[in-house]
Amino acid sequence: MKTVLITGASRGIGAEISRRLSLEDYRIIINYNKSEKEAKILEKEIRQKGKDAWAIKADIRKYDEVKNMFDLVKNKFRGVDILINNAGISSYKLFQDIDEKSWDEIFDVNVKGVYNSIHAALPYMLDQKSGKILNMTSIWGIVGGSMESHYSATKGAINALTKALSKELGYSGITVNAIAPGAVKTPMTEEIGKENLDYLCEDIPMGRLADPVEIAELVAFMISDKNSYMTGQIISPNGGMIVY
Ligand SMILES: NC(=O)c1ccc[n+]([C@@H]2O[C@H](COP(=O)([O-])OP(=O)(O)OC[C@H]3O[C@@H](n4cnc5c(N)ncnc54)[C@H](OP(=O)(O)O)[C@@H]3O)[C@@H](O)[C@H]2O)c1
Repeated sequence: MKTVLITGASRGIGAEISRRLSLEDYRIIINYNKSEKEAKILEKEIRQKGKDAWAIKADIRKYDEVKNMFDLVKNKFRGVDILINNAGISSYKLFQDIDEKSWDEIFDVNVKGVYNSIHAALPYMLDQKSGKILNMTSIWGIVGGSMESHYSATKGAINALTKALSKELGYSGITVNAIAPGAVKTPMTEEIGKENLDYLCEDIPMGRLADPVEIAELVAFMISDKNSYMTGQIISPNGGMIVY
């Protein structure tokens, strides 16, 4: 049985990915930072379906905590076969209102957090000569989002990392891909308020936000054995909002 670790799986897209993957033959590691209660409820929900799930706290900004999380998994189940870098934060600000603290904070979670997780996951994958890494980025990392220049910059960085690492790790049987969603109905998007979401929907040819279930379904395919030859690709489920 393969072990999948999903960062930021306590709510939103990450929680939905966990639920979707629990329909298949995976052992699921639910990483969380602040939302312990939600993560434990999800762990219980998946276990009640007779599937293996384990919620582990680690602030992905901190290398030691991330390394400790991977060591816990290694001691119990050998290692992580599939890493889904899903955790992320966002905020909406004019560029001139983004202070140094906010800039560092978003890069710490969205970029350094991904570095920490991949770095801790790789020794086992390299040893196995197989593995899958899937990064959750954003359309804004492809085309740039007004009022989200810091967020866009972090997601653009991970899109570039996805491409570069795929070239380095393909020789070791490890694939690296990214999913770059448009707007998805989660606590993250709720922050911008109903009126702004209605405006946003006017710019989406399909006229609505994605349901997290739709992203989870794509994840299930991306990490499956059926997806055996794709690497270095950024797949964007966005309802036609950007076509490139
Ligand atoms: N929603 C969208 O429209 C959209 C669109 C494109 C891309 N995305 C991307 O999809 C991913 C998930 O987004 P979402 O909408 O599901 O967001 P969300 O509902 O706000 O959930 C974010 C998750 O990230 C976790 N997280 C944040 N900081 C963390 C840290 N330091 N360490 C560990 N976990 C941390 C949170 O865990 P805790 O609460 O436990 O701290 C939470 O589970 C993000 O990378 C986001 O950028 C979202």
